[in-house]
Amino acid sequence: MSSDEKKKAAALAALEYVESGTVIGVGTGSTANHFIDALAKTKGKLDGAVASSDVTAERLKKAGIPVLDLNTTGDLPLYVDGADEATKHLHLIKGGGGALTREKIVAAASEKFVCIADDSKLVDVLGAFPLPIEVIPMARSLVARALVKLGGEPVLREGFTTDNGNIILDVHNLKILNPVELEEKLDHLAGVVTNGLFARRPADVLILGADDGVKTLT
Ligand code: A5P
Repeated sequence: MSSDEKKKAAALAALEYVESGTVIGVGTGSTANHFIDALAKTKGKLDGAVASSDVTAERLKKAGIPVLDLNTTGDLPLYVDGADEATKHLHLIKGGGGALTREKIVAAASEKFVCIADDSKLVDVLGAFPLPIEVIPMARSLVARALVKLGGEPVLREGFTTDNGNIILDVHNLKILNPVELEEKLDHLAGVVTNGLFARRPADVLILGADDGVKTLT
């Protein structure tokens, strides 16, 4: 089975968490896109969705799903999104698509976070995937120097601006043994908007598409 077929299988399995007449959060990336395509076939089931990026908002609209503002919906029962890396503790690295800030906001507003991925995303230790950090442009060098002191190797994501008008530093060479502690530390650096560690608010359910079917970790 290709990695895309595994992503699709995980996305289809997430449909079982969607209840009629609700508003849910929808993430960003190729796995989330499979989920949106699957939602399109159950049109009318949802009252609407909150998107974690402009790209996702567009795709939801094309699928006929009303896109709502989180400020008008209140808390959401469910958020479905992909990840770049995940552990069996359901700690994640996200932000490969650069949407990490809105993703973290929607995750924080959601009662249940269902993460969907192909099984190649499951790792023992986070950090082989460079950790994305959204930074206010004027703080680029300041934050980069602090990241070097923490043992990382920050690389500017060239030609990329987030939906919030900021830059992304992708941090290489981090072996993240304590993701909760590092997430907190990075959030305290002046100029950092959001870091891609989802550990303080991890996923609640991790659905992995694999050759021998879909596996669910909770
Ligand atoms: C988007 O910013 C990321 O957090 C995505 O969830 C992540 O990059 C997963 O992408 P794929 O579903 O395309 O693998």
